[in-house]
Amino acid sequence: MLLPRPYPTHYVSRWTMKDGTEVLIRPICPDDAPLLVTFHMTLSEHSVYFRYFQIIALRQRIAPARLARICHVDYDRDMVLVVEQQEPLTQMPCILAVGRLSKVDATDTAEFGIVVSDRCHGRGLGKELMQRLIQVGRDEHLRAVMADIHPDNLAMLRICRGMGFQLMRSTSDEQMIHTIFDL
Ligand SMILES: CC(C)(COP(=O)(O)OP(=O)(O)OC[C@H]1O[C@@H](n2cnc3c(N)ncnc32)[C@H](O)[C@@H]1OP(=O)(O)O)[C@@H](O)C(=O)NCCC(=O)NCCS
Repeated sequence: MLLPRPYPTHYVSRWTMKDGTEVLIRPICPDDAPLLVTFHMTLSEHSVYFRYFQIIALRQRIAPARLARICHVDYDRDMVLVVEQQEPLTQMPCILAVGRLSKVDATDTAEFGIVVSDRCHGRGLGKELMQRLIQVGRDEHLRAVMADIHPDNLAMLRICRGMGFQLMRSTSDEQMIHTIFDL
């Protein structure tokens, strides 16, 4: 019987946001479900739409079964990084952003998805998570990472262009832009 892969501590490290705030970037773990509930409350409909291409109600996004699935990761298939901050007033941890890399079945390619709390947009978290997901892809011996991006999502397109992703019309939905990065 194959044992589940242990928590990948080598993907844990501190980072400082553009505004000087110290955060911890680390793989998600089963205890994160309550933190994700609070995180989802900080997302606008706009951000949810850009991430999932549909409006998913908060109630659905924080359903316990869904959060349990997200927090219990098979690290050989998926890597989910969360950005954690200690709330200055309460010293309680909170999640500011989530980045996911999911292997596409039977390939050495993975799809990425990033979502940053609306109150933290523009502080470099999206770019940093993208860089880290690229490094995860390399460490996991993947060939490429890719995702479809909404054409109005200027911040995400800027991140992809800046990192040298190829951009093309998506074949699955021609309104979207397919972005791919060869590792
Ligand atoms: C897209 C998203 C991940 C970007 O994260 P972020 O932390 O706000 O972005 P960053 O602070 O790292 O900024 C990245 C770049 O985009 C630029 N940028 C930010 N907002 C922008 C905007 N509205 N229009 C144009 N450029 C923008 C920044 O100036 C920065 O460029 P620079 O590095 O040349 O200065 C974030 O806005 C988000 O979570 N959106 C909702 C979900 C989503 O769209 N996910 C992407 C689909 S996978």
